[in-house]
Amino acid sequence: MNHGETLRKKIESGTARVGVLGLGYVGLPVVTAFSGAGFRTLGFDIDERVVHRVKRGESHIGDVPARAVAAVVESGLLDATTDFGRLGEMDAVIICVPTPLGKTGDPDVSHILDALGHIRDGLRPGQLIVLESTTYPGTTRELLQPELEQGGLTAGKEFFLAFSPERVDPGNPVYTFTNTAKVVGGLTASCRELAAGLYERVIDEVVSVSSPEVAELTKLLENTFRAVNIGLVNEMAVIADRLGIDIGEAVEAAATKPYGFMRFTPGPGLGGHCLPIDPQYLAWKMRTLQYRTRFIELAAEVNAEMPRYVVDRVAQALNRHRLPLNGSRVLLLGVAYKPGVGDVRESPALDVIELLRRQGAEVSYHDPFVPRLAPEGGDLESQPLTAELLASSHATVVITDHPQVDYDLVLEKARIIVDTRNGLTRQPGERGEHRDPGGATLYPLSGPPRGTSAPDLEPVAGMDPGRGEAIPFDEVARRYRVSAGDQP
Ligand SMILES: NC(=O)c1ccc[n+]([C@@H]2O[C@H](COP(=O)([O-])OP(=O)(O)OC[C@H]3O[C@@H](n4cnc5c(N)ncnc54)[C@H](O)[C@@H]3O)[C@@H](O)[C@H]2O)c1
Repeated sequence: MNHGETLRKKIESGTARVGVLGLGYVGLPVVTAFSGAGFRTLGFDIDERVVHRVKRGESHIGDVPARAVAAVVESGLLDATTDFGRLGEMDAVIICVPTPLGKTGDPDVSHILDALGHIRDGLRPGQLIVLESTTYPGTTRELLQPELEQGGLTAGKEFFLAFSPERVDPGNPVYTFTNTAKVVGGLTASCRELAAGLYERVIDEVVSVSSPEVAELTKLLENTFRAVNIGLVNEMAVIADRLGIDIGEAVEAAATKPYGFMRFTPGPGLGGHCLPIDPQYLAWKMRTLQYRTRFIELAAEVNAEMPRYVVDRVAQALNRHRLPLNGSRVLLLGVAYKPGVGDVRESPALDVIELLRRQGAEVSYHDPFVPRLAPEGGDLESQPLTAELLASSHATVVITDHPQVDYDLVLEKARIIVDTRNGLTRQPGERGEHRDPGGATLYPLSGPPRGTSAPDLEPVAGMDPGRGEAIPFDEVARRYRVSAGDQP
């Protein structure tokens, strides 16, 4: 029996041992799915804390319930290790390591290379190696194949090599690893069939394509499509503002068209580990072929400008109430890059915080999923969302529309609200009409404000000519005998 046939039998009988390299947002759901389907699995990670947590049956990824990890750890189907010497015990190895950008904006494939070094050391006939990390077209054939063949084994004969992009959507309660179709491209027909056969054991639908390059480009097409369309709708928000129109309302109306339009919502910018980064992998690859990816560049430029647009919007809103950004207390609601998750990687909130601070604003935030922001966020801690916090903040800015936030309280107590997600006053299914913003003046991402209860203030907090220092707003309020609680 040849090596492929032996492996196919192991996969079909569920006796193949599956190793997953990198136990993060992608790797933990993968290893849990295979162990949950009865495969004996071993997770590999360089981070000892991650390995210990998995070994204890805990989950560090929001989408993977701890009870699911605990169940497979208890049944002996899932174990984790930092000992890469054990990779040779695996029949299939799935690589889920990070693929960030380097300092110059070029692909950083060092984690893949590191993983490959370990796999190569233990590579034996009959192993299947699958790369899931997002990367540029050509990686599997140009990088993985020569690296792995260095030991003398041939891909497609002695060992098998495929690319299958991960499509996990963190926080999505409907589409998970197992019910999202999986694209698989193998180096040879047997590589493709073995990889597809493996995923068919845990995934409802497997889509085989003719090569790893097609699978690699598929992932980049999907994410570039999103990045470009978000860039388009973000530019539409800027255009709408110049026209004095609420873009949110226009998007809602356009989305009623049953064909030829797909709803993308504008916001404070792109975030997460995928959309701001993945298209740059394609742009880099095309630069090596003397081709400029114009849509990618333009979308990246528009999306990268959005945090600045948001800060300008906050400054305009405060200005309308005769308050300067300098010295104002600005509360951000949500700092994660999307609703329902605690991931702040590449989150536009980080840029918004930095830009606000540069202009002298005192920034605080509330995010039910992010208790603390690391140094790039200024070492801030999430504040409990209280009536006092809202009332004492000069402006409240919705950056991430987490459904877990008490927006009724926000509408009741906040004074100036800038809603970059345009969802705050809309009832589900409602179009055209908006909920009353209560005591607040609400600024959507573009267009005129709604609600006018906040009065314009006569004095402006500014420099004390005597002391040469900024006068805090509270002091201005006291000097002019205005209750700070009544003011934005
Ligand atoms: N997060 C997503 O939503 C998502 C979706 C689709 C695709 N992807 C892609 O999947 C890949 C992994 O992303 P992620 O979000 O899971 O990253 P992550 O940072 O959440 O997890 C990566 C894990 O790999 C470990 N690691 C790093 N180098 C390693 C090595 N050499 N050997 C073993 N482990 C190593 C890290 O310690 C970490 O635990 C990336 O290419 C990403 O673009 C991510």
